[in-house]
Amino acid sequence: MVERTLAILKPDCVRRNLAGQVLARIEKAGFRILGMKMVKLTAETGGGFYAVHRGRPFFDDLVAFMSSGKCVPLALEKENGVADFRTLIGATDPKDAAPGTIRRDFATSKGENIVHGSDSPENGKLEIAFFFSEKELIQNA
Ligand code: RTP
Ligand code: MG
Repeated sequence: MVERTLAILKPDCVRRNLAGQVLARIEKAGFRILGMKMVKLTAETGGGFYAVHRGRPFFDDLVAFMSSGKCVPLALEKENGVADFRTLIGATDPKDAAPGTIRRDFATSKGENIVHGSDSPENGKLEIAFFFSEKELIQNA
């Protein structure tokens, strides 16, 4: 099934000038980019996006990191897109990520791990709506 998923190039990715390289891998893997923008999250919006993790020991660090610089949210679409994107980026901790994955190749730690990917088709839709209005998602271009 064709699925939509939300990716975020996290602040470490943008800060280290890796956005182009990561985007090239995403394009090469066959994802269609329906929407792309640059945003700076705040503690409120970053905490809201990762609200499911509120109360976890890493939550405060995660929010501080995600609001520490510019992010690039991407609305993506592909057959089996949610699982395929998680495969492309690799495990949360780059030490556990498979060779050739984005996190294995670029991430420096479990916290600063370059890219976000939605974990289910349902969350893909909800997370895309967090950053993009319907009219910002362009199908045929
Ligand atoms: P994401 O949501 O960003 O795609 O990452 P994920 O599914 O692979 O991992 P998740 O469990 O959802 O965690 C969200 C983000 O929180 C940070 N984290 N740090 N230091 C830690 O133990 C720890 N655990 C999680 C990471 O930035 C992770 O991507
Ligand atoms: Mg997650």
